[in-house]
Amino acid sequence: MVYPIYIYGSSVLRSEAEPVTQEYPNLEQLVADMFETMYASDGVGLAAPQIGKSLRLFVVDVSPFASDDPAAGGFRRVFVNPEIYEVSDEEVLMGEGCLSLPGLHEEVYRPERIRIRYFDEHFTPHDEELDGWRARAVQHEYDHIDGVVFTDHLSPLRRTLIRNKLAAMARGKYSAAYRTKLTR
Ligand code: NI
Repeated sequence: MVYPIYIYGSSVLRSEAEPVTQEYPNLEQLVADMFETMYASDGVGLAAPQIGKSLRLFVVDVSPFASDDPAAGGFRRVFVNPEIYEVSDEEVLMGEGCLSLPGLHEEVYRPERIRIRYFDEHFTPHDEELDGWRARAVQHEYDHIDGVVFTDHLSPLRRTLIRNKLAAMARGKYSAAYRTKLTR
């Protein structure tokens, strides 16, 4: 099932999400639906708050960047209750966009490498060190479960320049090639 994507201005995107419990019903189906929704909208990552569910859960598939970054090839993961516990001092500037902020693309500084602990949809624990597009996509999605969006990382000047665009988006003035939803 393909879910509509919640757009900037929706309060669920600004909430700190709740941990997923082992008793959560049909987690595997939800994860399958999240991948289906992400692929249907040509995304490389999708967090549960983006489909209106305030859960510490996101999916990533950065395979489209494999020609650029070989380690991204086949990197398709489910992150349940993740914890980024180490970040590199080195930061890199990379371009980002977000399914919840259609039409906006901005360069953002983030740590180049991270270490992350997480569970998959079967509650098997994992621990990985990531860099390149894997680290970028994971940090972007991780922000979503803390109620943060990528434009929050821009300089005050840059934020001022896109302020009107964001305000218009939150009032429903945007266009997207996929099904969306805007709920306060
Ligand atoms: Ni996003």
